[in-house]
Amino acid sequence: MDKKTVGLSDAFKGQTAPKSFVKNEIKGTKFTIAVSSAKGGVGKSTFAMNFALSLKSIGFKVGILDADIYGPSLPKMMGIKEKPKSEDGKSMAPVNQYGVQCMSIGFLVDEDTPMIWRGPMVTSAIKTFTQKVSWNNLDFIIVDMPPGTGDTQLTFAQEIKVDGVIIVSTPQEIALLDVKRGINMFDKLKVPILGLVDNMSFFESEEGKKYNIFGEDGVEKVAKDYKKKFLGKIPINVDLRIAADSGKPLVEEKPEHKISIIFKEIALKIKESFL
Ligand SMILES: Nc1ncnc2c1ncn2[C@@H]1O[C@H](COP(=O)(O)OP(=O)(O)OP(=O)(O)O)[C@@H](O)[C@H]1O
Ligand SMILES: [Mg+2]
Repeated sequence: MDKKTVGLSDAFKGQTAPKSFVKNEIKGTKFTIAVSSAKGGVGKSTFAMNFALSLKSIGFKVGILDADIYGPSLPKMMGIKEKPKSEDGKSMAPVNQYGVQCMSIGFLVDEDTPMIWRGPMVTSAIKTFTQKVSWNNLDFIIVDMPPGTGDTQLTFAQEIKVDGVIIVSTPQEIALLDVKRGINMFDKLKVPILGLVDNMSFFESEEGKKYNIFGEDGVEKVAKDYKKKFLGKIPINVDLRIAADSGKPLVEEKPEHKISIIFKEIALKIKESFL
């Protein structure tokens, strides 16, 4: 009698086997660094713009890719009203601002138009921005990620060559939970984590008194627990917020500001990781 075994047919096994992805590099740059955090509103975009401008200030050629399709921040934070041009009808040229090459979905739609898109459309937009933009001769592209661990993060982790990710968080318990999820996601997807940044770390009054509004040293502790590098603390600072809203990031507006110096120190640490 035939011995029958219960199991998956070869054809079905083929369908359910883990998919292997080809990682495409973004042409026109040597390195790609993503700025991420699983939680929203912790200062990823503010960090990404000022960090990119700090890398520029220490001599690198830099681009910023705004990967937040539902909530692009780059046009407002970098003060860009221009639309990208296409010479050949196939690729788009990034918009130059403060010596940095920039691309955002926000360049292509009105400021108050909502992007009512399902996941596959977002993935397709990300592929266009990484493959069809004529990034030119850059050392670094800084990718400003949306919050969460969704389609955009997965597309970058699986299908695009990302050389490293910087995780930004506030030191608050509820934000740290998301940081741990973020660390586990990037570890699982084998994207190197370059380090963690503690944003809105504390508030310092004019008299020099420090207030730990969101808690103390939380991000540094998570970095230690997960054996990741701790890159630094950025305090809550009104000049940083005003500069972001005015369209000229603080690092560009006031390079000697104490907060700009912190960004520069982080840029120098990242430089060490690459060169
Ligand atoms: N260190 C800081 N001091 C003062 N204000 C800050 C600081 N960091 C960020 N902000 C302000 O906090 C708000 C949220 O920052 P931002 O938009 O950069 O966060 P985000 O993580 O990119 O948000 P999202 O998840 O929506 O993309 C902005 O108004 C920004 O100007
Ligand atoms: Mg943002």
